[in-house]
Amino acid sequence: MKMKQKMITLAAVFLASVCSFGFGGRAEAAGGKILVAYFSYQGHTAGVAREIAAQTGGDLFEIVPVTPYPAYDECLDVAKAEKNNNARPAFEGNVENMADYDVVFVGYPIWWYDAPMIVLTFLESNDLSGKTVIPFATSGGSPLSDSLDSVRASAAGATIGEGILANDVGDVAPWISGLGYGK
Ligand SMILES: Cc1cc2nc3c(=O)[nH]c(=O)nc-3n(C[C@H](O)[C@H](O)[C@H](O)COP(=O)(O)O)c2cc1C
Repeated sequence: MKMKQKMITLAAVFLASVCSFGFGGRAEAAGGKILVAYFSYQGHTAGVAREIAAQTGGDLFEIVPVTPYPAYDECLDVAKAEKNNNARPAFEGNVENMADYDVVFVGYPIWWYDAPMIVLTFLESNDLSGKTVIPFATSGGSPLSDSLDSVRASAAGATIGEGILANDVGDVAPWISGLGYGK
């Protein structure tokens, strides 16, 4: 009987440890599991995304265009045409396990005083209802607020959290800490 109890205790301890550490589990902060999805043309927003992932323990997903954007001057024209046509440019793959995430940071460069259209494709290609979507951006000076109407309209059913224009990556840590999503 004593032996049996010991075995049961050992089994319980084993199970508890597997549950806490065993499956290399996904990022889970106080507010739930975190995804950091981003589009970046020149790398600035990618740097901010990596910093957010480091601060929160979140998983990264890069929104990669199926048709790569051309060099800068031509990209200005392509992006302007996409905006004028309300286009939804395709991106590679998708987040496989979106249902697992509670909080989705979504990052992008400000393009033509708005979010790039490919970011709207991403938002509309996922069921974000009931999740918290937190926008972040970099820009040449335009504010994040320019893009918020588009993000709100495309992230149907989501709560939009307090975002940031993070041209200085050093702004990320205090912002994340203020949101309560720090590791
Ligand atoms: C197509 C295009 C449109 C842009 N439009 C704006 C804009 O309206 N306002 C602004 O401040 N910066 C604008 N920029 C500058 C980018 O927002 C800025 O360089 C950003 O940090 C780039 O981020 P990335 O390196 O992640 O691509 C634009 C850049 C491109 C390529």
